Amino acid sequence: MSQLHLQLGYKKDGGGGRGRENILLGGGGGGAHGAPMVKLLFVGDVVGRPGREILMERLPRLRSELKLDVVVANGENAAHGAGINAGIARGLLQSGVDVLTLGDHVWDQKGWEAEIDDFPRVCRPANLPGGCPGADHVIVNVNGFRLAVFTVLGRTFMGLKAECPFHAADEMMRRLAGEADGVLVEAHMEATSEKIALGWHLDGRAIAVLGTHTHVPTADACVLPGGTGFLCDVGMTGPYASVLGREVRPIVDRFLDGMPRKCEVAEGDVRISGAVVEYDEVEKRTLKVELLHMRRGR
Ligand SMILES: [Fe+2]
Ligand SMILES: [Fe+2]
Repeated sequence: MSQLHLQLGYKKDGGGGRGRENILLGGGGGGAHGAPMVKLLFVGDVVGRPGREILMERLPRLRSELKLDVVVANGENAAHGAGINAGIARGLLQSGVDVLTLGDHVWDQKGWEAEIDDFPRVCRPANLPGGCPGADHVIVNVNGFRLAVFTVLGRTFMGLKAECPFHAADEMMRRLAGEADGVLVEAHMEATSEKIALGWHLDGRAIAVLGTHTHVPTADACVLPGGTGFLCDVGMTGPYASVLGREVRPIVDRFLDGMPRKCEVAEGDVRISGAVVEYDEVEKRTLKVELLHMRRGR
């Protein structure tokens, strides 16, 4: 299945209720690699214009070279490093991203709260208070395999009010049983301990638990004993000559004198960072999780 096929093939095919979109990607069976396997790329927090540009530029080639069935990306920093808006969401989705997730910066762009419900392939964190706009998960149909995606926010060292991510994830897994054939969980958390604990908590129940938010890729990709893939942080997609995507000088100065100042998105050493996950549909377990980390100029 080609990238073009994926872009042209989606449509809503049922679902209903908050976040219960089931969107068809492609039409044939067997996936891009001819095996009963789902191969997905999860792209870490896309930061500002540099992050968007490198992703949009490289995604078509990545999709075909890696024979990806589906691409999920976190867009919480896509608009000037903070939040997302309709135009940017549309651009990322049109460039080959199938599902966009969000994190604690979900509401940073004014007006997005009124636009998010127009995007069936975008979900906000599942453990936000129930009255928040936006879907709490997305389901995409990948060659007959119903892949659900949701994000939970951590509660350790995090600002945004959120329900317990462990209980929220349990509740989501219960709701998605029967609706999805596999569930990808994003752990959008500051504390490594919270992410690792969630990985073990969902081992054997999720395709993978992939960490985001800290913007720094970690070297602990693994498949847990129950068959769930895990990576503590997939890293950010954006400028690495920075402090977590922001210009170095104002951030360092802020640490030095504690004074507030404008911190723009940096521009140097732009990279794509994410995780590639291979899931065996027959054995119902993840075979491999690998960090994907690419500099410009590859
Ligand atoms: Fe982020
Ligand atoms: Fe975040």
